[in-house]
Amino acid sequence: MTGEESGALPGKPWGGRFSEPTDRDVEAFTESISFDRRLWHEDIEGSRAHARMLRRIGLLSEEELGQIQAGLDKVAAEFSSGSLPFRIEWEDVHMHVEKRLVHHAGPAGLKIHTARSRNDQVALDLRLFVRREAREISTSVEALLRRILVRAREYRDLLLPGYTHTQQAQPISGGYYFGAYAERFLRDRRRLLAVVESANLSPLGSGALAGTTLPIDREGVAAELGFSGITHNGLDAVGDRDFVADLLHALSLLMVHLSGWAEEWVLWSTREFGMIRLPDRLLTGSSMMPQKKNPDILELVRGKAGRVFSDYGGLLVLLKGLPLSYNRDLQEDKEFLFDAVDTTKACLSMMSLAVEGMRFEEPRVEEILKGTELLATDIAEDLVRFGVPFREAHAIVGRIVALAAGKGIPLEELSDADLRTFSDRFPAGYAGTLTLRGSVERRSHVGGPAPETVSRRIDALWKELFGEEPMPGASR
Ligand code: ARG
Repeated sequence: MTGEESGALPGKPWGGRFSEPTDRDVEAFTESISFDRRLWHEDIEGSRAHARMLRRIGLLSEEELGQIQAGLDKVAAEFSSGSLPFRIEWEDVHMHVEKRLVHHAGPAGLKIHTARSRNDQVALDLRLFVRREAREISTSVEALLRRILVRAREYRDLLLPGYTHTQQAQPISGGYYFGAYAERFLRDRRRLLAVVESANLSPLGSGALAGTTLPIDREGVAAELGFSGITHNGLDAVGDRDFVADLLHALSLLMVHLSGWAEEWVLWSTREFGMIRLPDRLLTGSSMMPQKKNPDILELVRGKAGRVFSDYGGLLVLLKGLPLSYNRDLQEDKEFLFDAVDTTKACLSMMSLAVEGMRFEEPRVEEILKGTELLATDIAEDLVRFGVPFREAHAIVGRIVALAAGKGIPLEELSDADLRTFSDRFPAGYAGTLTLRGSVERRSHVGGPAPETVSRRIDALWKELFGEEPMPGASR
């Protein structure tokens, strides 16, 4: 028997009790190497820590540990150069690593799977993967936030129409507008950091489901792999994919935010709105219509959100009916996870380019702001100041708006006489005191759009994220 042929069934580590070879179609159906090879890095990292633990508890000699580490170096080199032979009869990444280790390290390699199952191994690999990706994506979210905060500062004083129901509502500022997205992505970042915590426990030692009789050192392996602790029930731990669902939930909400923003800018960059423009380097053309410049990246961000949601939904459906503990269904978790990670990362980087490259079309924005009804709420609140109960003030201003609309004049151009026909509470000289800018400045409470308030929040967020590093362009 060679090191590789350890069972009665050639090539299978589990072949001992089988009397005939696996059906080829079954092998093709059950393999996961075609996609879980992506975990080779994690698998080898976990195997190294596991081998060092086996040495510490006396189940490997120093020489065997050396052979295993050197063998794993070679396996890693094979994976990274693409020279590792993939064979569906070796099923998955864990068996490929073990097979190639035995090939390179000889008999010492036959000991690597001591006190370990592929069930706790795959849980470990996934935790390492999720932890790393959650950190990486949170760094990308920070990079997006950096750009958002710079734009918020730059457009702090630009007046914009604020919308509800996609109908003009109240005037806001550009700083407030970008600041709104900063809050959203700040929450995304926090959620991603919480995912790191949720993944950050070592399941190694759970074995197949119920631990091992061998004297393992679980805490030692966990510490070496940078985990903050260990899981406490193997029966749970080998089937637990909550941390994957946590990541997909965080990514789904992140995509909700990216997708809504993309939709807004698709709309705002139309000729009809014309409020923003993306640079040519971010636009794409039409094969037939020579005049076209399309915001395809925004549309794809919007479209790809659906993929990430269905990855999350697919994962939950996969998990919902599983009895304890490990079930082979779990092998299907990976493609959802990988797709959600790849898709979200790509969308983040596109939206980051869009945020950096977009410009407000300020003359067009000014034109849109002319002759609006954006100050109606301010007038109603002024009536409250003049002693009118808000519900009555609301009704009065409703009638004023109807009059102005009928006359075709902006609210702020109504005369004192016009206003006083609706309420004698309007003091003399009230008409003409209202301006859009004044309206924005007056809403200076925490959470309001006044430039000073917005600046304080932007500065606080910048400091929270980037410390003392000066904000680019912050001198103005
Ligand atoms: N490829 C499997 C997965 O991804 C690894 C665990 C297999 N365990 C087993 N007992 N067949 O879930």
